[in-house]
Amino acid sequence: MSNINRNHSDHSRRDFIKNTSALLAGGALLGTQARVAMSANISGSDEVKVAVIGAGGRGTGAAVQALETAGPVTLWAIADAFEDQVEGCLRNCTQFVEKGRQEGNPLLKDSKVDVPKERQFVGFNAYQQAIDSGADLVILATPPGFRPIHFEAAVKAGKHVFTEKPVAVDAPGVRRFLAANEEAKEKNLMVAVGLQRHHDPRYQETIQRLQDGAIGDILYTRVYWNSGGLWVRPRQPSQTEMEYQMRNWYYFNWLCGDHIVEQHIHNLDVSNWLRGMHPAEAQGMGGRQVRTGKEYGQIFDHHFVEFTYPDGTKMFSQCRHIDGCFNEVDEFAHGMKGTADIGQGRIEGADGKWRCSAKPVDAHHQEHHDLFAALRRGEVYNEGDNGAIATMTSILGRMATYSGKVVKWDEALQSTVDLSPAEYDFAAAPPVVPDANGFYPVAVPGKTEVLQVAKTS
Ligand SMILES: NC(=O)c1ccc[n+]([C@@H]2O[C@H](COP(=O)([O-])OP(=O)(O)OC[C@H]3O[C@@H](n4cnc5c(N)ncnc54)[C@H](O)[C@@H]3O)[C@@H](O)[C@H]2O)c1
Repeated sequence: MSNINRNHSDHSRRDFIKNTSALLAGGALLGTQARVAMSANISGSDEVKVAVIGAGGRGTGAAVQALETAGPVTLWAIADAFEDQVEGCLRNCTQFVEKGRQEGNPLLKDSKVDVPKERQFVGFNAYQQAIDSGADLVILATPPGFRPIHFEAAVKAGKHVFTEKPVAVDAPGVRRFLAANEEAKEKNLMVAVGLQRHHDPRYQETIQRLQDGAIGDILYTRVYWNSGGLWVRPRQPSQTEMEYQMRNWYYFNWLCGDHIVEQHIHNLDVSNWLRGMHPAEAQGMGGRQVRTGKEYGQIFDHHFVEFTYPDGTKMFSQCRHIDGCFNEVDEFAHGMKGTADIGQGRIEGADGKWRCSAKPVDAHHQEHHDLFAALRRGEVYNEGDNGAIATMTSILGRMATYSGKVVKWDEALQSTVDLSPAEYDFAAAPPVVPDANGFYPVAVPGKTEVLQVAKTS
């Protein structure tokens, strides 16, 4: 086991990028002539105009966190599929800034909300209108099924990006995101991904110590997102099937990717971060034990996955949405010389017990402090590849539980299973529709194909 080291990890990460570039070669990468030095070019005192695309809970949260960073920030445009969501986001952001100013919050002194009717955009094309509205930076916070399209458009237009995780819901989406991210690097665009644990000093310090050998070579990790169930938005008589699914995006894979992708990605990402590599393969099991009604669309309510890293070590992963069970959202590492609770910043290793003493931060907010500070310093950073690797890891996990088979990373990344609809229109048919009894197709392990079918349930 002594060969479990960071050289291997570096190798694995290099291979991923190399293989990915090879995969994308032949058109998607920018040629040298197209290299434009668009760089961050925003100085400390400049106003940064922000457009929010996907004005729900997280889009609104990210907007106020961006507004509450050092230097002038203007909320400039808001785009959403639905008008009520635009209005709610605008109202909440306006109140947040007004209240903060009244209370003398210095970080809101130069920030403002300036989103007149002509910069409020609604519908499936709203994202493009927001990108074209004159913003410097876009926040992408729709359901993840749209992310590759929106990210590609933002990069094409030369915008800095904060994108929520996951960055896709299927392998074609990951490949599309990665191709666009190559262009973002060529253009020196900032790409921040909402895997906020990377901006949390507790995670940073604990992982650094573990990588420095605090518990010796890592034998395996355990990662969990076990919690209760989530919201359901009842069907309204006026809704088309497309609108119903968009409003209930969590339960449809073309929009959400299942909760192993949408939520558990955070914990899978921490294990990859610690190990410095992504898994080589996965096998697992899962299903719907309590979330069996038609209102729960097509996703599972539990997954267990055994991921195997290229050096043969394991990551054991559980995610569950069932009320009344053992709940845990955390990551653990087990090594030759000890153990660690990463989320809690605790290590019991060869040198005894260590507790992280870093002051707790709101990592959602911290990632925006880091993003805007770097932008104003002209330092470009890019979290896009890591976001794509984390997303692909979670998709690999879903492929394992849906198929019931051992699925290899390379095959998974090449998968042609494209979950997206043929057409984005509220009158169009979504990629999955209910049967005569109102139930949606659900994966059946042992039968469901995850790698090579053109369209899947
Ligand atoms: N990093 C984190 O801890 C964290 C926490 C919560 C959510 N998220 C992520 O943020 C994203 C949004 O989640 P949420 O909880 O805010 O969901 P939400 O339902 O509150 O908001 C999503 C918004 O996107 C809009 N939308 C849907 N399709 C659109 C389209 N094509 N164009 C424009 N707008 C569209 C919806 O109408 C809605 O207003 C998800 O990817 C989720 O995984 C991340």
